[in-house]
Amino acid sequence: MRRLFAFLFFLSNLSIVFAQVSSVVTVIPQPVQAYVREGKFELKADTRIHFPQGKPDWATAAQYFMGVAQAATGFQLTGLPFQTTPASLRENGIYFLPDETVERSEGYQLEIMPTFVAIRARTAAGAFYGAQTLRQMFGPNMGSSTPVKDSTWTAAACIITDYPRFPYRGMHLDVSRHFFPVEFIKRYIDLLAIHKFNYFHWHLTDDQGWRIEIKKYPRLHQIGGCREETLVGHATDAPPRFDGKKYCGYYTQDEVREIVEYARKRFITIIPEIEMPGHASAALAAYPELGCTGGPYEVAKTWGVFEDVFCAGNDKTFEFLADVLKEVCALFPGEYVHIGGDECPKTRWKACPKCQKRIAAEKLKDEDALQSYFIRRVGEILSRHGKKLIGWDEIIEGGLPAGATVMSWRGTEGGVAAVRAGQYAIMTPTSHCYFDYYQSDPAQEPLAIGGFLTLQRVYDYEPVPSTLIEEEARFILGAQGNVWTEYIPTPQQVEYMAFPRACALSEVLWTPANKRARGDFLRRLRIHFRFMDNMGVNYARSYYDVKASYNGGYVSLSTNDAMAQVKYTLDGSDPKPTSPGMYSPIPLSKSTTVKAAALVDGKFPGRVLTVHYLVHKALGKPYTLSAQPMQYSGGEKYALTNGSIGALRSWANWVGLQDADFDPVIDLENTTPIQKISVNFLVGTGHLIYPPRSIEVFTSNDGENFTSAGKRDIRVDELVGNRIETVSFNLGGVGARYIKLVARRYGPAPKTGDKTWLFLDEISVE
Ligand code: ACM
Ligand code: ZN
Repeated sequence: MRRLFAFLFFLSNLSIVFAQVSSVVTVIPQPVQAYVREGKFELKADTRIHFPQGKPDWATAAQYFMGVAQAATGFQLTGLPFQTTPASLRENGIYFLPDETVERSEGYQLEIMPTFVAIRARTAAGAFYGAQTLRQMFGPNMGSSTPVKDSTWTAAACIITDYPRFPYRGMHLDVSRHFFPVEFIKRYIDLLAIHKFNYFHWHLTDDQGWRIEIKKYPRLHQIGGCREETLVGHATDAPPRFDGKKYCGYYTQDEVREIVEYARKRFITIIPEIEMPGHASAALAAYPELGCTGGPYEVAKTWGVFEDVFCAGNDKTFEFLADVLKEVCALFPGEYVHIGGDECPKTRWKACPKCQKRIAAEKLKDEDALQSYFIRRVGEILSRHGKKLIGWDEIIEGGLPAGATVMSWRGTEGGVAAVRAGQYAIMTPTSHCYFDYYQSDPAQEPLAIGGFLTLQRVYDYEPVPSTLIEEEARFILGAQGNVWTEYIPTPQQVEYMAFPRACALSEVLWTPANKRARGDFLRRLRIHFRFMDNMGVNYARSYYDVKASYNGGYVSLSTNDAMAQVKYTLDGSDPKPTSPGMYSPIPLSKSTTVKAAALVDGKFPGRVLTVHYLVHKALGKPYTLSAQPMQYSGGEKYALTNGSIGALRSWANWVGLQDADFDPVIDLENTTPIQKISVNFLVGTGHLIYPPRSIEVFTSNDGENFTSAGKRDIRVDELVGNRIETVSFNLGGVGARYIKLVARRYGPAPKTGDKTWLFLDEISVE
């Protein structure tokens, strides 16, 4: 700041406006500090871009800006290298200025004046981030890759001082489960660059496909790069179904080099991941002699964890990996190589004479120690190439390999253990960083692996666990969003899952914790959406989701976007801009389908919420249960009588009991004539959710003496598939105050004997 004020004193007599910074600077991630000034800078066809001569990285940063600005504006901008830093800055120029006084290596100062723009930084990376900020300051049209007609290109005058909170700001992409073309990898890298991410973790090998050409082992891509067919639906659906289509893909070494270079020009380092010792089915299919049993093996067609892994007792395995890693290290100039290390079952090692011999010869305690031995040997291979090893947190199970950086995914414990041992960690806990998880109501979302991770939850993430002291916290390098692609078959779906959650993560990683404010982020995100619209990004619109809650006969509807208006209908039709707006809770006196959506600028950018409310005689009535639901409570105390039925895949809305009968006794509070009682149950045997064996209803007037009013044995013709079934009983108008329902558990699952679940929802009384 010291030199900044000196500069202002000499060059400017404009008054400084200490305006509400964020109302004008709508950049994501939020800069550290911004002062708004009067006026604006206009980019014109004759604006000149000045950058230092003889500094190729600076030319790269300047040319990147010129490239994106030319694409959006259609201008042919002129780039002018300078030999010595100009003493005065000319009108209509954008200057990239090396400046040793800018404090952080990735930091920058962006000065937008009505007459010129200056980006000052110590490194070209800092200048690049300044250019990304400048790009966003020109507004959403600057996101377009084709010329936008009739646009003016102005950026509000301001002075921004900015630098990242964490040195590691990563996004990951799994290209094994599904393969994505080179053009999309480049686009993904572009999207990361906009958000100032600096690492791309490229998950290149797994059970379902080996995706990188290795010259010495061509069968890796020829055999390991193809699977015979692919699972359809969810891996837990029973029985499994397959698409019958061969699925192949890999990147040649030329393509890899092209992508590495593309990323370099965007100041992104690629970390290749070669999975070992587990998740190795594709490699073993190509070279079966590297497995404990010798095979044959196949490239996996379904998702999960597989028992066949690299043999740790066979020296050939290490020779193979040394050769593979030699080629990998030559292709990727970054300092890190990720070797996986997660989810390695020890079944084969336990039964393998070679592995057992290794355990004895190396005096290892057990198979976990053998895994650590494995990782240590691979770490030695990498250090011969001058590289550092990163592994998933399982690599610490048999002892933390010296020098390894731990990627903590099963919570934060692995990361905490690493930093307490004085080693580095990168945080990617499933709870906040798994962008393959559902981001909105699973019933309305495309099929995903599971989980639930909203945009807001990502935004609230704090990568440094509160248990760490400052000295330890320094070893947390940053965090990363992971995009595993079992259920993500297309580039469009990658964009949908990654964005806008990656926008939120970018702010977690860049912006100082005390400058992060969720409400302000959401306000800026609304503008950022238009930038991404211009890039054609298929980001998820769950931000515009409408939520409904029912309380005492009234429905309330709300949405995240404070500027949006919630429009609703009660007649089953989709809301229109002319539909009623939600101003106060809506009274419901009969069963009604509520449909609602958020209206923004005359459009409905999000999806329509549909909730069926059953208004019935037991609605909101209390009940008792002998076995209390734990994990699946239906979200409310009296979820069985709350007027709405759980949906497929939205398990949170069902009431579930494991290995127990349901026996709710509902108190209608007055003697009530009863025509009909209905109850719904869920079937999903792949998830161990089974139908009840029978359902019986009873009535009573004193709550003690119950009379049976009907029993139904559930015929279990079809245990497969996921579905909701309804059972109804006609009572012919009998009067009763208490209703008891007994749904008997299915019992142990056929074949496996596993404990099964019974999921019920909504007991409706007419
Ligand atoms: C992982 O998700 N298996 C790292
Ligand atoms: Zn073995």
